[in-house]
Amino acid sequence: MSSCNIILIGLMGVGKSVIGKELADRLSMEFIDTDNLIESKEGKSIREIFDERGESYFRQLEADLLKELKLENTVVSTGGGMPVYHNNMDTLAELGERVYLEITPDRLSTRLWVVRKKRPLLKEVQSIDELEMVIAEQLSLREKFYKKSDFILDVNDKASCEIVEDLLKFVKNLK
Ligand code: S3P
Repeated sequence: MSSCNIILIGLMGVGKSVIGKELADRLSMEFIDTDNLIESKEGKSIREIFDERGESYFRQLEADLLKELKLENTVVSTGGGMPVYHNNMDTLAELGERVYLEITPDRLSTRLWVVRKKRPLLKEVQSIDELEMVIAEQLSLREKFYKKSDFILDVNDKASCEIVEDLLKFVKNLK
């Protein structure tokens, strides 16, 4: 395969950006994060976009961005909600190999509790149990989209370096 793109999909906080950057470095590929691209295009943080224009405006920005992307040998970290809206899973299929990083709500809630205030969709939660419930609800709505991915990787109880190793094997098998 001369050019390949890897699209990381999954709930917020699962580690798409950190893992994506590391994977891209190891494979000498480019790395992009769709949230970062939207922030630079709009000149605002994701949180400001949600606060000032609302979620549906943000979802339109995500879909517009996907239509414009021209990728070559790139690892992409997607926003957690991107696969769910505007037929984006199909657009992503045209762009590359979609990899779903799967994690359970209880594992994810422990990680996200510390950073919840920075996340527009989580900032109101009052306790870690509530956070786990919110994540579980979100997952039950999103899972059917995520699971259309070309590869599903269970990342529960795995350190980032192990996840990167698993992904390296996956990419090697593509070639
Ligand atoms: C969102 C996830 C965020 C960001 C926005 C909405 C979501 O991206 O796109 O806050 O709906 O799950 P990350 O998954 O990169 O945190």
